[in-house]
Amino acid sequence: MVTGRYIAFEGAEGCGKSTHAARLATTLGAVLTRETGGTAIGQRIRDILHDTSVTNLSHRAEALLTAADRAQHIEQVVAPALAGGRHVVSDRTVYSALAYQGYGRGLPPQEVRQINEWAVNGLWPELVLFLDAPTHVLEQRMQGRQLDRFEQEGDDFHQRVRDGFHEMARAEPDRWVVIDASNDPEAVARAVRAAVQRYLGI
Ligand code: TMP
Repeated sequence: MVTGRYIAFEGAEGCGKSTHAARLATTLGAVLTRETGGTAIGQRIRDILHDTSVTNLSHRAEALLTAADRAQHIEQVVAPALAGGRHVVSDRTVYSALAYQGYGRGLPPQEVRQINEWAVNGLWPELVLFLDAPTHVLEQRMQGRQLDRFEQEGDDFHQRVRDGFHEMARAEPDRWVVIDASNDPEAVARAVRAAVQRYLGI
């Protein structure tokens, strides 16, 4: 059976993921989607997760909400597209949960992985494009924007998330590519395209 390829974009807020995910999806003729909020149900979950008036959400509940978004997204969008032979480019995936709820919030990454194993039902991205830049560079890019519940977190949180992404990239070099997102957008786009060709041959 011919199936499409499943490609993840990961990185901190302001790294340019959404722009580059859209660009790659157009180049490949892929389905462009995202977590959280890639489905109508997921959008409602996202509204809770991003709402700055939500001040008492427990870390475990937050992890389960992102996993619920993901379970719906995989079943409704990702799995059918891949089975139909379409490539899928996703702006964030399960790896964001490991980075944000695991490394960022301090839940044991192995436990976050376990609940997400169940949520994704075996469907992990084949290639992870991690757009990386120093936290202070990204903060500058975010200036003047209205910040959501995650973006309002302090530097320590964002540094732990970044360190978490790096640790996962080191652990799985056959699946992860780290791309310098402080470069100009054309250079980033070229690096993305080259990585997809090299790792997936498409
Ligand atoms: P974004 O889609 O605008 O990048 O914002 C999504 C936010 O949600 C971002 O701050 C990371 C966070 N997030 C998690 O904490 N866990 C997850 O599993 C996902 C997908 C996103």
